[in-house]
Amino acid sequence: MRSSGGLLIIISSFLCLFCFVALLFKIFHKIWWTPNCIQKLMASQGIRGPPYRLIHGNTKEISNMYKEARSRPLSLSHDIFSYVQSHVHSYMEQYIFLSSVYRFEPHEYPDGISKLETMSMILNESLRLYPPAVAIPRITGRVVRLGKLIVPANVQLLVSVLAPHHEPQFWGPDVHLFKPERFSGGVAKATNNNVGAFVPFGLGPRTCVGMNFATTEAKIALSLILQRSSFTLSPAYIHAPYQSIIFRPQHRLQGCRRLGARSPENEKRASTSLLKRLKVKAFSNYGRPSKTEIFHKIWWTPIRVQRLMASQGIRGPPYRLIDGNAKEVSNMGKEVMSRPLDLSHNIFPVVLPHIHAWTKIYGKNYLQWHGTLPQLVVTEADLCKEIFTNKDGVYLKPKFRPYAKKVFGNGLPALEGEKWVKSRRLANHAFRGESLNVSCCSSYVRNWSL
Ligand code: HEM
Ligand SMILES: *[C@@H]1O[C@H](CO)[C@@H](O)[C@H](O)[C@H]1NC(C)=O
Ligand SMILES: *[C@@H]1O[C@H](CO)[C@@H](O)[C@H](O)[C@H]1NC(C)=O
Repeated sequence: MRSSGGLLIIISSFLCLFCFVALLFKIFHKIWWTPNCIQKLMASQGIRGPPYRLIHGNTKEISNMYKEARSRPLSLSHDIFSYVQSHVHSYMEQYIFLSSVYRFEPHEYPDGISKLETMSMILNESLRLYPPAVAIPRITGRVVRLGKLIVPANVQLLVSVLAPHHEPQFWGPDVHLFKPERFSGGVAKATNNNVGAFVPFGLGPRTCVGMNFATTEAKIALSLILQRSSFTLSPAYIHAPYQSIIFRPQHRLQGCRRLGARSPENEKRASTSLLKRLKVKAFSNYGRPSKTEIFHKIWWTPIRVQRLMASQGIRGPPYRLIDGNAKEVSNMGKEVMSRPLDLSHNIFPVVLPHIHAWTKIYGKNYLQWHGTLPQLVVTEADLCKEIFTNKDGVYLKPKFRPYAKKVFGNGLPALEGEKWVKSRRLANHAFRGESLNVSCCSSYVRNWSL
């Protein structure tokens, strides 16, 4: 009896000892072995950082930096990075900028960013082949004279950006090749002085106010990335340029997947259900029209507009009751999506198959029907220019659908008239080249020739 009790004690104390040693080993693994391994692995790839300290890591330093930053009064400046993320700011200076070839010396090359000529050519060629806004809409506020045409009120003008960008007449037989050097003499030379042939940011009074900002931002980001890494095309990349509010790769850029990315199927489901919800909302916004109003809207006006335009030589796919050309457009889109796309920049027939096909049949400017809304599709560069640069306020911005309103709110893109003039003046001032102080970033691109 006694000996079996002793045995039990011995076994259980061995078991306890074993558990204790295992626990110690696990703790040792977690707080010492793994952190050191990771630190070494990253260091061997050039990624350094504040050294790991037992258990705490860098939490103490970070908390001290925070306290220190918070104890200083903050002046009314927008330079808040060092205040909000003091540790990232300080570590970046220590471990990234000082370790790089480029020393941090503000003011030395104040115009370095704007001088990146080759990069400007590359950006422009990318914006030519893949303009984020493939078409820019307007609506006629009253009867207007456009070129030789008389266009009735309330016709939507769809000014194509993609079409002139892919027009061999302007760019030559190599129009579908990525050739940044075509911009080496500037835009005027590249387009043979055809204003309207290159309009990624629009043109005229309502041109993109953020153009300087966007190009400067892109140059800074690219110059930082390209100094340390290079791009290659992933074998998994599927070429599928895709128009959904803006123009983007449908399956993202493989290799740059976000953490926790959704599968393409989930993505599609999520976006269609969102679209469905938005559609319901969009329609619920229209009041209930009377019977004569309905007749007018779905039959009389479309037929009249169609005749009027036809009499001026503007043809197009025939208006169909209520739907307009929506079905054909959607079928053409589906047909194109079902075919795999080779790795070509000839994307106009893929992204806007209906406009590509119908301009071939009906001419450069033609009439199509978005439901009961007449859309005059304009791909002729001269007419595009005329619409963009008109200063009489006859080509209005269409009212945003509820979903677009969620994106743009009541900001500058939505305004008209006096309100627009006032806001635009302020925005022009804020976005002027001189207001975008890039002198602090110029040192990043020092001695860098792109
Ligand atoms: C590559 C990037 C960008 C492209 C291709 C682009 C393109 C465009 C286009 C095509 C328009 C419409 C012009 C029209 O309706 O005639 C526009 C308007 C506008 N963009 Fe951009 N944009 C870009 C980046 C930005 C950025 C970064 C900002 C702001 C920080 C911005 C702010 C605006 C505003 C406020 C308008 C409305 C201007 C007005 O109606 O007066 N954009 N943009
Ligand atoms: C690129 O396009 C922008 C805007 O159209 C223009 O201001 C700039 O001069 C162009 N750069 C080159 C190198 O063509
Ligand atoms: C631009 O920024 C630098 C520091 O980043 C500052 O010293 C300089 O005064 C700024 N210039 C203007 C015109 O605001």
